[in-house]
Amino acid sequence: MKVLLTGGAGYIGSHTCVELINAGYSPVIADNYDNSCPEAVKRVEEITGVSVPVYELDVADFDAVDKMFSENDFGAVIHFAGLKAVGESCEIPIRYYRNNIDTTLTLLEVMKKHGVNNIVFSSSATVYGVPEKVPLVEGMPTGCTNPYGWTKLMNEQILSDASNADSELSVVLLRYFNPIGAHESGRIGEDPNGIPNNLMPYITQVAAGKLERLGVFGNDYPTPDGTGVRDYIHVVDLAKAHVKAIAYADSHKGTEIFNIGTGKGYSVLDIVNAFMKVNNLDIPYDIKPRRAGDIAECYANPEKANKVLGWKAEKNLEDMCRDSWNWQKNNKNGYK
Ligand code: NAD
Ligand code: UD1
Repeated sequence: MKVLLTGGAGYIGSHTCVELINAGYSPVIADNYDNSCPEAVKRVEEITGVSVPVYELDVADFDAVDKMFSENDFGAVIHFAGLKAVGESCEIPIRYYRNNIDTTLTLLEVMKKHGVNNIVFSSSATVYGVPEKVPLVEGMPTGCTNPYGWTKLMNEQILSDASNADSELSVVLLRYFNPIGAHESGRIGEDPNGIPNNLMPYITQVAAGKLERLGVFGNDYPTPDGTGVRDYIHVVDLAKAHVKAIAYADSHKGTEIFNIGTGKGYSVLDIVNAFMKVNNLDIPYDIKPRRAGDIAECYANPEKANKVLGWKAEKNLEDMCRDSWNWQKNNKNGYK
């Protein structure tokens, strides 16, 4: 089956491309390289030995997307394309709403025109806002604290409404927790622009000597060691969830939401200590004030994905720390 991956040259898309090929699917990528580069796709081809067609286009561009659908018989779409920096979304919200919403609307229109009925969407645990309690279950209240989060929640609504109105349409909403790690080959991985905002890329850049010290944002949260707790998930496990989601979408109708996490919460200091131990490296750090907008604890109850999709995270924290460093060590400047 041919599967369209919008944003397929990005961090999660490139890893999913590898896993789809491993499972016998034929991925096609549509990406405007806003936050990625052709080299990532070359590396996917190198890992798999399979060539991956790429359409360099803006997924919001109806004519370009329509033409691509005319040239391919897609069985399903995985919609990764989107802007994802929380801080930036507060500075340029209109660009985030325009890009993240328009891409979905265009895709739904073109899918309808061409009779493509399966879509898997990259949502985020950010839609739970400030959780009342953890672990998070899919039916718990949602609400967002920044424009990026709202684009995710609005897309969930748009996709659910579209499937309510069209009995042929199948929508799978995957709420990712905190993806880290890289393919074990060390050939593809996360390649952030500028100084990383997220914890693991910051740690790996301190380890590589590109940044001096890690700032730990707050040690006075109501958590076991006072630092923030998150559900870190290996990007290869996350990629495999998409393979399961495609099969599920193809055999069901309507909308389903799944948490994609491990179900385990680790604190910032757990991550720093595990990284140092696994890689035998020192990560100097300072305790800093809390980061605005951060929550104390966020981790999934992933039972629904375990039972319904038949998916479970297999990799552990050691794998995540080892593979994150393997990617950084072998690609000091990312794909550049
Ligand atoms: P990424 O930035 O590496 O990948 C996104 C890709 O989409 C990039 O290749 C970018 O060039 C492309 N893109 C953006 N707008 C486009 C457009 N209009 N047309 C064509 N291509 C476009 O991000 P990622 O980490 O791989 O995330 C993939 C998806 O998962 C995003 O929707 C993101 O919001 C979501 N998500 C990511 C995380 C995370 O921590 N990485 C967590 C939860 C959800
Ligand atoms: C952030 C986003 C979230 C997004 C996720 C994955 C915010 C408020 N949320 O989540 O929407 O889905 O990234 O891309 O930005 N930390 C430090 N020092 C650092 C960096 C982070 O101590 O230099 C801490 C944070 O305070 C947090 C934990 O590490 O407790 C994880 O942070 P991060 O990787 O940025 O992810 P989230 O904040 O969970």
